[in-house]
Amino acid sequence: MSKYINDKIASIEAYVPGEQPRDKKYVKLNTNECPFPPSPYAMRLARQAAGGLNLYSDPECGALVSVAAEYFGVKKENVLFTNGSDEVLNFAFIAFCDKDTPAVFPDITYGFYPVFADLNGVPYREIPLKSDLSVDPKDYYAAGGTVFLANPNAPTGRALSIDEIEGIVLNNPNNVVVVDEAYVDFGDVESALSLINKYDNILVTRTFSKSRSLAGARLGMGFASENLIAALKKVKYSTNPYNVNSMTAAAGVGAILDEEYFRNNVKVIRENRDYLTKKLSECGFEVYPSSANFVLASSKAITGKDYYLALKERGVLVRYFDKPRLQSCVRITVGTKEEIDALIAATMDIREAKK
Ligand SMILES: Cc1ncc(COP(=O)(O)O)c(C=O)c1O
Repeated sequence: MSKYINDKIASIEAYVPGEQPRDKKYVKLNTNECPFPPSPYAMRLARQAAGGLNLYSDPECGALVSVAAEYFGVKKENVLFTNGSDEVLNFAFIAFCDKDTPAVFPDITYGFYPVFADLNGVPYREIPLKSDLSVDPKDYYAAGGTVFLANPNAPTGRALSIDEIEGIVLNNPNNVVVVDEAYVDFGDVESALSLINKYDNILVTRTFSKSRSLAGARLGMGFASENLIAALKKVKYSTNPYNVNSMTAAAGVGAILDEEYFRNNVKVIRENRDYLTKKLSECGFEVYPSSANFVLASSKAITGKDYYLALKERGVLVRYFDKPRLQSCVRITVGTKEEIDALIAATMDIREAKK
């Protein structure tokens, strides 16, 4: 790297996002997006907002904050909107961690956590998941740092109950516990949102990228006590006050208010998750139980990487992981029924070709 680049950036291993190829049309089951378009109401509001793009966006996201506070039953002071939930997570690393306050998270979880830690010069400790790939909540008691837990976890799809999350929050009175609820809408576990009124050391993050079909708009949320939100806002106003653009903010209002569209999409994804699980099991895969819009599937017959490559050749994208315990696994986003059928047809074809 060039002599002009500082050591931290020169040595950092950047996050590798899932492929977004433009060369041809793939059956795209690799980045946990929603297969359905945004709510028509969200699109209409975004189009209207386009007319005001000559002006900076509202740095306070006033309309969006009002709608969200009412919808989620919190005070306006308890909410922050960001450019995707990745941004609020990065803000949390900046505000709640430092060299004496490490980050603590599972060894198998969202791959961005170690990158945010490195970028911000934060040491981190990874706690191994149990052999069934679940989190043992007690492993996080008195963690000695800021805890980051994706719940449901990615890429396992497994979730902790609100009581288990509360146990972790109670047992870390001197540290913040960040609960990343990117996938919470797809499961049966209760969100930890209500805990923000009870404890001043929990931050709950959410995204509009999955259940609300707005991955391309980049919209995320953080919910916490007034003090924590004020600290995160300080980071926002010290980096990019206009972090949410006007069209995205308008689309966010529409996505929240179009409750019926949201509920219906989540219902279909849950049904399709059962269908995908059944079909993969019939093909000989072990499928981990999932509370998310993806499943982790493991095979004795083919490695995750080989299966990924063979599927890609056949126009289907999934995600594999370069981690010892996930060698036999791929993570597959729950798509439409047609997309699932295409995945299964490609899988049968791979099986035939191997004979
Ligand atoms: C666990 C988890 N958290 C957060 C995110 C970030 O989502 P976004 O920045 O699109 O809101 C993702 C994206 O895949 C994720 O898997």
